Amino acid sequence: GERIPVRIVEVGPRDGLQNEKTVIPPEVKVGLIDRLGRAGSRVIEAGSFVSPKWVPQMAGTAEVVTSMDKLPGTTYQVLVPNEKGLESVLSLLAAHPDKPPIDEIAVFTAATDAFSIANTNVTVADSLKRLARVVQSALDKGIRVRGYVSVVITCPYSGKVDYKRVRDVTKELLDMGCYEVSLGDTTGTGNPTSVREMLSVVLEANPVERLAGHFHDTFGMGVANSMAALSAGIRTLDCSIGGLGGCPYSPGATGNVATEDVLYALQDSAYSAPGDLEALVDVGFWISERLGRDNSSRVAKAVRAR
Ligand code: HMG
Ligand code: MG
Repeated sequence: GERIPVRIVEVGPRDGLQNEKTVIPPEVKVGLIDRLGRAGSRVIEAGSFVSPKWVPQMAGTAEVVTSMDKLPGTTYQVLVPNEKGLESVLSLLAAHPDKPPIDEIAVFTAATDAFSIANTNVTVADSLKRLARVVQSALDKGIRVRGYVSVVITCPYSGKVDYKRVRDVTKELLDMGCYEVSLGDTTGTGNPTSVREMLSVVLEANPVERLAGHFHDTFGMGVANSMAALSAGIRTLDCSIGGLGGCPYSPGATGNVATEDVLYALQDSAYSAPGDLEALVDVGFWISERLGRDNSSRVAKAVRAR
């Protein structure tokens, strides 16, 4: 029968690169984004407009998004933490009225105060107040907004997370106007059982069509957790090429589940996902070589060795 379409949000250029210690030249970031688009990524998180004091690696995002080759049919989003980040996006859009460099923004908060304070210097309640204004201003300008909730399974600072808190924060983000909320297993400690338990609580108050899964692969559970999320009805997965990345404020956490691994897991399944696996494998090796790091995708390595 008909295969069920799965939307893949490629977060490699943002979540993947934000944690790299050495400065990545803008042309490498642009090269990554352009290669991903050509390999069939349909939604790309291209960077973030956050404080360069907090995340120095993302300082060049304005140059990156105005230099990349923006493909029709591909959606480009950037992460913003506050009104200052949104202002940067709005001034870029105003400067490029014929060819807007960005389609959407994403905002982020967390399920615990300890993580929210470590990541953005405010409690969850204060961050939601701040984000409500950001989301409203973006919607007023016709910009769609995606939301993220971090630490949906465990928090590096306060341990096991109360899934009711995940449920309620997700609902607040949807109520303020986010079209979708991505549930972040920031630490990558989840497994299919805890992911299912978390989702069953989140689904008490939120429609599954408006949720996405964002699984870091620290414990190697990224593919299993992605499949568990699909079984629970989720149809959007965040992935990172070559398994790049990690969050600077989640010590020891590795990158997101590799895009290549998820595409391979979905081959011949009831689900279909965009992207050319062989071409994406090449992109993963290209960026891994530029960064001087090992490719974290098991599938990419196995495909290369064939
Ligand atoms: P703060 O220090 O409380 O804020 O940081 P501030 O208003 O006092 O600003 C400090 C300085 O940063 C000031 O500069 C501001 O102008 C500047 P100064 O006056 O000292 O020269 N600043 C900015 N510059 C550029 N763009 C901005 C901006 N805002 C302030 N938007 C703040 C608060 C939120 C700014 C800070 O904590 C921050 O930027 N945090 C972002 C941290 C981050 O990017 N984390 C990684 C992304 S989230 C993630 O990875 C999780 C996710 O993947 C899901 C998951 O896996 O869980 C999404
Ligand atoms: Mg993340």
